[in-house]
Amino acid sequence: MDTLVVDHPLVAHKLTALRDERTDSPKFRRLADELVTLLAYEATRDVRVEPSDITTPVSPTTGVRLSSPKPLVVPILRAGLGMLDGMVRLLPTAEVGFLGMVRNEETLQASTYAERLPDDLSGRQCYVLDPMLATGGTLAAAIRFLVDRGADHITAVTLLCAPEGTARLEQELADLSIPVTVVTAAMDERLNEQGYIVPGLGDAGDRLYGVA
Ligand code: URA
Repeated sequence: MDTLVVDHPLVAHKLTALRDERTDSPKFRRLADELVTLLAYEATRDVRVEPSDITTPVSPTTGVRLSSPKPLVVPILRAGLGMLDGMVRLLPTAEVGFLGMVRNEETLQASTYAERLPDDLSGRQCYVLDPMLATGGTLAAAIRFLVDRGADHITAVTLLCAPEGTARLEQELADLSIPVTVVTAAMDERLNEQGYIVPGLGDAGDRLYGVA
């Protein structure tokens, strides 16, 4: 698994405003949207394209277009929804599937409580959206779910990562033979006792949508 921390002054600037506890929900949503679009540019570096013949007003030429099957964007409910518009702005022809994951508090295993995805993801490039890679349990389960359906290339886009989360992903997904990349705006210091990323930005779902 590769982790790409996008190093760009605009990303750092917007992330700082996003983290600020004085930032209200409307501004938080706008900043998250803008940040995701910047991350999407890096996250789609390996998106598959095929040759496309066109004619300009001056002459015929060959360019590229996105290959079929179309990429699939998968926001993880609920907070991943706040990243959807920013992602599809750069991939308007992508299809969108939804995954709801919940953690069983006894077994601590994440499982799926809702899904709206194609049954067969063979040959699909999937872009999973989840703002906070904290313990890594949810993202690991979501990635495995997509791989079990046949996805052969996965990029997770997150706003923040904790080192504990990327370490767990590395460990839990070590057996996968397909490329998995995490693209993020920052690798933070650690998780606290409550499982929050430090310094982090608090609860991303609450800050996006304003309710617990
Ligand atoms: N989920 C969040 O929303 N925030 C964190 O800090 C960790 C997990």
